[in-house]
Amino acid sequence: MENSLRKTVIILAAGQGTRMKSPLPKVLHPVAGQPMIQYTISALKECQFDDIRVVVGVGENLVRPLMEQQGARCFRQLQQLGTADAVRSAQPENIEGLVLIINGDHPLITKEHVENIIKEFESEQADLAVVTCVLKKPGQFGRIVRHYDQIKAIVEAKDASMDTLKINEVNTGIYVVQAELLHSVLPLIGNSNKQNEFYLTDMVSKSVESGKKVIGIKAPKDVAFGVNSQKELAQATQLKFKKKCEQLMENGVIIIDPRSTYIESSVRVGSGSVIYPGVYLKGLSVVGSFSVLEPNVFLIDSVLHDGVQVRAGSYIEKAVIKSKATVGPYARIRPNTLIEEDAHIGNFVELKNVTFGRGAKAGHLTYLGDAEIGENTNIGCGTITCNYAVDHKKYKTTIGKNVFVGSDTQFIAPVNIGDDAVIGSGSTITKDVPDKALAVARGKQFIKENYTKK
Ligand code: UD1
Ligand code: CA
Repeated sequence: MENSLRKTVIILAAGQGTRMKSPLPKVLHPVAGQPMIQYTISALKECQFDDIRVVVGVGENLVRPLMEQQGARCFRQLQQLGTADAVRSAQPENIEGLVLIINGDHPLITKEHVENIIKEFESEQADLAVVTCVLKKPGQFGRIVRHYDQIKAIVEAKDASMDTLKINEVNTGIYVVQAELLHSVLPLIGNSNKQNEFYLTDMVSKSVESGKKVIGIKAPKDVAFGVNSQKELAQATQLKFKKKCEQLMENGVIIIDPRSTYIESSVRVGSGSVIYPGVYLKGLSVVGSFSVLEPNVFLIDSVLHDGVQVRAGSYIEKAVIKSKATVGPYARIRPNTLIEEDAHIGNFVELKNVTFGRGAKAGHLTYLGDAEIGENTNIGCGTITCNYAVDHKKYKTTIGKNVFVGSDTQFIAPVNIGDDAVIGSGSTITKDVPDKALAVARGKQFIKENYTKK
């Protein structure tokens, strides 16, 4: 077989996923934060296929856009009549060369797995290869029936005799086949079985009968791991998180309890950072070196530079936090927020669309929205930027450098505070304050002696 053969992959993703008992199409169920089919398509995209075809059906309106935006072509299976019917729906008659067929519900498959399978198929010069795995508990997998080592057939668990069920070698649902063989064998597959489905697995016996070279390629357990139930979905997620933690620990990240640490595969963490239990890092988040994430920190698509400390229970979304800043405990950092170096955000502080200057502080119980805070400015406890007005529009508060904002201040936006200004506690600031000025805007204290009579 030449390496120059055209390579096509067909991903089967039209099934209902009845055993998931959920209205979401099975292949879109999330495994460690990504739809499970995403792992399949990502691995395959790295493997230089000329053509990626996805068979869609149940939930097509949701599955198709996700696949097409990644360059795959989708083919509709009108009725879910079985895996062989699914392959027929992918218009195999206009495929040439080598065809990899793979189920969309095996989220632990990696690029390396696929590369090894293709390599072995090519070196064996086979017509058809079934990727198999030996399992202690073969469960509901199709069983590989051999005669003197030679593969003869795959028998679905539902159709198997007690003796066949004892076979430990199972079908992983991955096949490599020469296109010509696929063309000739597909029409031979019928549906006389327990489920009245057209089984792709019958491709094996039909090919053997017509004298073709059929081989088994043994793969590691991860390849066989298919998700058919909510329980298996959770197991897949746990395995992904475990693997991610192991990779990070190998690269010098300190993880106190990997069993309760949840880091999606897309996240990067620098060496020397410490991750406490209950931390969840999502999406495109990046954490630098020597940062500390205390228990139950939740990070979404955020970038933390080196030496950042995030204290327990903080929720951070689409924000950037520069070196040596401290945040929390119990801070909420909302999208489009930049916290500069050495800044300090304390407990029960919420920031949204804020640039928070270098060395500035907001230690307690504060809401800053649509604001710019200059360097070394101190924001007193209970400060609020009143950014949302009765006209339903958002207005901006700009506060200069080295400003001292007394506690319990409200800024009625739009408003600008100059550098080095001082705002008296309890002020409601409605007008701009110039540089170096003192502004006090609160009711005067009033004393009435002997007000209560004994
Ligand atoms: C299938 C294999 C079984 C193997 C197992 C590995 C068959 C008959 N059986 O069983 O030997 O051990 O995978 O996980 O192939 N699909 C369609 N259209 C359909 C039916 C299914 O697109 O009409 C898709 C599903 O979305 C899924 C994949 O094919 O991604 C496998 O279908 P599923 O019903 O999960 O097959 P299994 O019973 O797991
Ligand atoms: Ca399956």
